[in-house]
Amino acid sequence: MDSPFKQDALKGKVALITGGGSGIGFEISRQFGKHGASIAIMGRRQHVLDSAVSALTSLGIPATGFVGDVRKQEDARRVVESTFQHYGRIDILVNAAAGNFLASAEDLSSNGFRTVLDIDAVGTFTMCREALVYLKKGGPGRNSSSGGLILNISATLHYTASWYQVHVSAAKAAVDATTRNLALEWGTDYDIRVNGIAPGPIGDTPGMSKLVPDEIISKARDYMPLYKLGEKWDIAMASVYLASDAGKYINGTILPVDGGLWLSRPRHLPKDAVKQLSRVVEKKSRNTPVGVPKSKL
Ligand code: COA
Repeated sequence: MDSPFKQDALKGKVALITGGGSGIGFEISRQFGKHGASIAIMGRRQHVLDSAVSALTSLGIPATGFVGDVRKQEDARRVVESTFQHYGRIDILVNAAAGNFLASAEDLSSNGFRTVLDIDAVGTFTMCREALVYLKKGGPGRNSSSGGLILNISATLHYTASWYQVHVSAAKAAVDATTRNLALEWGTDYDIRVNGIAPGPIGDTPGMSKLVPDEIISKARDYMPLYKLGEKWDIAMASVYLASDAGKYINGTILPVDGGLWLSRPRHLPKDAVKQLSRVVEKKSRNTPVGVPKSKL
């Protein structure tokens, strides 16, 4: 689908995207590039980075890849510094790297829980912390009045509760809390906007195939009235919006992009039954004089 945004919406910007070699992260990289940004992607696997970078450059997008694990502070620092050395500035940091798997709470070890927290929550904070010097107003390559943008990709799992994802829910809750707190502190002190996007189930992603097997999707449609899959494009367009000037007054917001799915509840009464039942109850209460105890009627 074509973008509704101007092709130069992100012209001149430099974006560093963790997990940018595949899935949602790659689509954000591609769309940022198509809207004029230069791209650095960070990921653990060299061959994934290589094919992502060649896909981007074949579209005419300036792109480079740096191998690194967001769990390692020295990797985070090296990749942020290398991005700055390569492009001379950093305007946008997108934290899209994530780790997850399905496990019931009773089968999950503390180390399994910690591993996902380390990647999603600690990794996001570490990247933000390392990028701060380049993103703040007056930082290297920036003027003294405008800071950059951080965009953290979380989820909607923790808005309610999610089966077999206590570790991921806890991690994403921490990511959202980090987004809001950094928005407050760094928005005020450094003119850095910090926002989040909470994707619902997005088709054709590694996360989706790990967390929501096909047979579950078809069952979910029966009991979740709003169930439909999103596309990576949906998340990328929300990202372009938040990163463009259209988002200049948006700070500390976590935008769910899930078609309203997290609001889904099974319908406990058919619509017609509600109409009838509700009228009967209303009539009864109107015919009952106020203040007269039930026993006197
Ligand atoms: N069920 C239960 N526990 C699991 C598990 C599973 N499916 N997969 C891993 N674990 C546990 C391990 O048993 C281990 O705990 P232990 O030491 O108590 O046994 C702990 O998690 C760490 O596992 P390990 O395989 O050593 O971690 P890793 O660093 O190699 O991999 C993961 C990290 C597990 C998150 C891996 O899935 C990953 O790298 N994911 C990134 C890609 C991804 O998930 N993409 C989707 C993005 S939405």
